[in-house]
Amino acid sequence: MNSDNVLITGSTSGIGLATARVLAGRGFNLMLNGLESGSEGDSLAQGLQREFGVKAAYCQADLSNVDQLNKLIDAAETSLGPIGILVNNAGIQFTSSLAEFPVEKWNAIIAINLSAAFHTMKRLMPAMKDAGWGRVINIASVHGLVASPQKAAYCAAKHGLVGLSKVAALEYAEYGVTVNCICPGWTETPILNHQFNEFAKANGVSFEEAKRGLIKTKTPYPELIKPEAIGRMIQFLISDSADAITGASLPIDGGWTAL
Ligand SMILES: NC(=O)c1ccc[n+]([C@@H]2O[C@H](COP(=O)([O-])OP(=O)(O)OC[C@H]3O[C@@H](n4cnc5c(N)ncnc54)[C@H](O)[C@@H]3O)[C@@H](O)[C@H]2O)c1
Repeated sequence: MNSDNVLITGSTSGIGLATARVLAGRGFNLMLNGLESGSEGDSLAQGLQREFGVKAAYCQADLSNVDQLNKLIDAAETSLGPIGILVNNAGIQFTSSLAEFPVEKWNAIIAINLSAAFHTMKRLMPAMKDAGWGRVINIASVHGLVASPQKAAYCAAKHGLVGLSKVAALEYAEYGVTVNCICPGWTETPILNHQFNEFAKANGVSFEEAKRGLIKTKTPYPELIKPEAIGRMIQFLISDSADAITGASLPIDGGWTAL
């Protein structure tokens, strides 16, 4: 392993934050990102520094804006030095039928869930190639592998992310740089709350009952996946044991894609 410096996009909540904690616990230095204010993000970073004794910094940047995205990368390199490990995790969800899908929601989902990864990879991967080592982990989804109704933009973005990752994996395989997607199923984070609330309303059940009910519609595994489980898979993919894993899209989905 040649780099201890990690940039995780969308790391103030859910899978990104859990991953930050897993990697900080293994001594990695972190650049955190999200939409939260500088003071909120700084206190999160300082908390990780105190708890784990690593370097951690935060940059507020809306990744649908390429100028802000470039400032995030500049801030990461200034704070930590060369970034050898990139985790493209920031993402949003919106559900609607295709006929009624708001164009601005389509544009935002494509920008944040797909184009942001293109821009960060384009900026950071040439330096990984020059260093002879690098790791890119893109957080796709089961919806990068299969579809669900009401999720046109999300499925398009996540399928696109899987395709983008395969191309990058092929272009960089001979330079010690791997690129992989993780494809989570229902994972216990705030991004699902809206869908649980909708299911609860539609079926006249409590929020907790809606969780179980919605999980059952797609997966044999009866629980929400813990976000730390995704962090631990990332920890494996950036280890030397994963040198030969590239271009893969690895489901952590409770059996969703086995059905
Ligand atoms: N939770 C699940 O069930 C699930 C399943 C499959 C894939 N995913 C994917 O995992 C990733 C993380 O989602 P999560 O479940 O942890 O959700 P979350 O809502 O808890 O976290 C999303 C993170 O992205 C950040 N973010 C949102 N919009 C942003 C923007 N414009 N610019 C910068 N940062 C932005 C938020 O600040 C937050 O830190 C997403 O890409 C999501 O699609 C989640």
